[in-house]
Amino acid sequence: EHSREIAQTLSEFRLTTKQLLDVKKKMRTEIQNGLSKSTQDSATVKMLPTFVKSTPDGSEHGDFLALDLGGTNFRVLLVKIRSGKKRTVEMHNKIYAIPLEVMQGTGEELFDHIVQCISDFLDYMGMKNARLPLGFTFSFPCRQTSLDAGFLVTWTKGFKATDCEGEDVVGLLREAIKRREEFELDVVAIVNDTVGTMMTCAYEEPTCEIGLIAGTGSNACYMEEMRNIEMIEGDEGQMCVNMEWGAFGDNGCLDDIRTEYDRAVDDLSLNPGKQRYEKMCSGMYLGEIVRNILIDMTKRGFLFRGQISETLKTRGIFETKFLSQIESDRLALLQVRSILQHLGLDSTCDDSIIVKEVCGAVSHRAGQICGAGMAAVVDKIRENRGLDHLDITVGVDGTLYKLHPHFSGVMIQTVKELAPQCNVNFLLSEDGSGKGAALITAVGCRLRQESN
Ligand code: BG6
Ligand code: GLC
Repeated sequence: EHSREIAQTLSEFRLTTKQLLDVKKKMRTEIQNGLSKSTQDSATVKMLPTFVKSTPDGSEHGDFLALDLGGTNFRVLLVKIRSGKKRTVEMHNKIYAIPLEVMQGTGEELFDHIVQCISDFLDYMGMKNARLPLGFTFSFPCRQTSLDAGFLVTWTKGFKATDCEGEDVVGLLREAIKRREEFELDVVAIVNDTVGTMMTCAYEEPTCEIGLIAGTGSNACYMEEMRNIEMIEGDEGQMCVNMEWGAFGDNGCLDDIRTEYDRAVDDLSLNPGKQRYEKMCSGMYLGEIVRNILIDMTKRGFLFRGQISETLKTRGIFETKFLSQIESDRLALLQVRSILQHLGLDSTCDDSIIVKEVCGAVSHRAGQICGAGMAAVVDKIRENRGLDHLDITVGVDGTLYKLHPHFSGVMIQTVKELAPQCNVNFLLSEDGSGKGAALITAVGCRLRQESN
């Protein structure tokens, strides 16, 4: 009878097509709210203009620095782009750690740390005196007033440094560079990771007009018609919009599909009540949902002989890479047990079967609702263009998409089912969003010269 109760608990995670169509419809409503003047102030999906007005055309050229902050890794990169007959992009990069106490310390400490890493990188490359143009991939919601000004709306994911929210992040970076008095840089663009990813893919594949991140966090951007972006003057052409769809549901519109486990994860997070959609479908939270289900099942006596270990009480034990391993089809149950063992969880064979089922239910739902969101986006673009049928490419990045054995398949299948009038091609971004930030910086530099 345990197995019936377990199946009962997990059935809440199997969303029907009807429920998914409802998620898609609600996403569409929130997109509209974010774009319209009369509703945008209270909109949960913020639809932030990025001042990126076109995808790359191959004429981008020059040497650029890029920073990539907000995913699993913080990187500093040197990107050399060559245009002409044989276009090439050469990249050098170094990964740096951002200690937890810096992520959650003061803003000044965070930006001093970033500049310290840039300094190390410039030494490493022997380029301290070059005064290079820089593109800053900053993977958080920013209200941009130009390509090189972005005011942080709110921290998301694991960051919580003080004195940054409401501030222009480019200003904070410039000030930190000044404080150090060691080298000069020209900060030309601030870029969301979704936008960097879209640009990276669009450089190879011109039909790429959407960017998707399924990683630590979840978010998307796409090329929207200027006439629909009411907060920006002008009706001609297009602009890329950073949706910040992670906040979808913050007004309660997804409460009908959120479970008690989602609420527990939310309550214990750094930002309770916020980023509710993201907390159901991104790498930083899936493991936490799993852990909460396992705790509940243990309490009910279905697992671990009813004993809740200290390990199981530890937040963050199930990282994306472990979930991905546990769900790998090639793994025998014995290996699942050894992964659990490695995490400090003593399991029987039956336990390991249940744990794998729990992981499967949670990641399957994540793929479904991410797909439902994407279905809303592609249909919006299709309708913008008055088409019965749309062919389009989505540039994607993120550890959940890349490492998890089933997430991407479920997501893609869901988009197919929910948006049958669109043929959506998913293209993995191979080099991260640093390259995209450099491409945007190249265009920014050109525009500056033209206006001088
Ligand atoms: C990287 C991009 O490849 O993917 C980053 O360069 C992005 O900009 C990241 O934030 C997202 O994935 P994750 O899983 O590291 O959060
Ligand atoms: C979070 C951030 C968003 C970013 C996403 C993926 O949702 O708010 O800006 O794009 O994570 O990294």
